[in-house]
Amino acid sequence: MNNIPLYQSSSHRFVLLNESESGEESGVHSNQYLIEHQGAGVLLDPGGFGVMPRVLAELLKYLRPDQVRAIVLSHQDPDIVGGISTWLEMIKAPVYVSHIWMRFLPHYGLHDMSQFVGVPDSGQALSIAPGFELQIVPAHFLHSEGQINVYDPESRILFTGDIGSAMMPMGMERPFVDDFEAHLPYIVGFHQRYMCGQRAVRCWLDTIAELDIDMLAPQHGPIYRGRAVRDFLEWIAGLRCGLDLLQPGGRFAT
Ligand SMILES: [Fe+2]
Ligand SMILES: [Fe+2]
Repeated sequence: MNNIPLYQSSSHRFVLLNESESGEESGVHSNQYLIEHQGAGVLLDPGGFGVMPRVLAELLKYLRPDQVRAIVLSHQDPDIVGGISTWLEMIKAPVYVSHIWMRFLPHYGLHDMSQFVGVPDSGQALSIAPGFELQIVPAHFLHSEGQINVYDPESRILFTGDIGSAMMPMGMERPFVDDFEAHLPYIVGFHQRYMCGQRAVRCWLDTIAELDIDMLAPQHGPIYRGRAVRDFLEWIAGLRCGLDLLQPGGRFAT
C-alpha cells in the first residue's frame, strides 16, 4: 500500500503514510499519519526504527522535514517511539506525549529531552499554525495508561492510536473498513487482551461524545469510515476486556 490521502482540500490534508506492504521487520504492521495544512505538518506515531526510512520517503512526497511542526506519540510502545531518535536528527519540532511517559523515553536512546512536551491527563489544544488547530484527547488505559488521541476538526478524523487496531492476516490488508461485521474477527482478540477494561472504554466514549467524527484512524489496520465508525463505537461500548476478563493464574475468561 502506498500512502493514501484520507481527506484533501485546497489547504489541508490528512494522509496515511503507509510503509510498503513487505518487510516491516517481523512485527505487526503499523500506520503512520501526516496532517498537513498550508505547508505545516504534524506527524502522528512515526513508527519503529525499521520503518523509518520508508516513512520518511513517503513524508518527503508532501513536505520537507523542517516543515514538520509537531510530532505526536499516542503512547510509549516501540512500534511508535522506536525510530524517534533518528527522526529528531532532522526534525526540530516539539514532540507531544503523555506526561507519564516522559521519564521513560530517554531509554530509547534519547540524550536530550528538550523537544518533548508532556501532555496533561486532560489533553490539550494544539495550535500548529494560523488556522491549523488540533485537539489532543485523553484515552487512558486504551491500552496504555497514558494514551492520547488526536482530533482534526477540519477533516473530522480522530486518530485513535491502538483503539480500533486490527491484526490483519498477510494478504488481507486493506485501507478501509466498510463492512464492520466482516472486520470483527481481526479486532476482537486484540481488544479483549490489550484494552484495559470497560470503565476506560466508557470514559473514552464520553470524552469523544461531542466530536463530529467521519473516520477513526487507528495505528494498525484499516481505517473506519462511513457506517463502520458508528458500528465500531457501538461494539466497543459493550466490550468486556482486560481487567473485566482477568482470572487468577493469568487466564482470561473470554
Ligand atoms: Fe500499543
Ligand atoms: Fe500499537
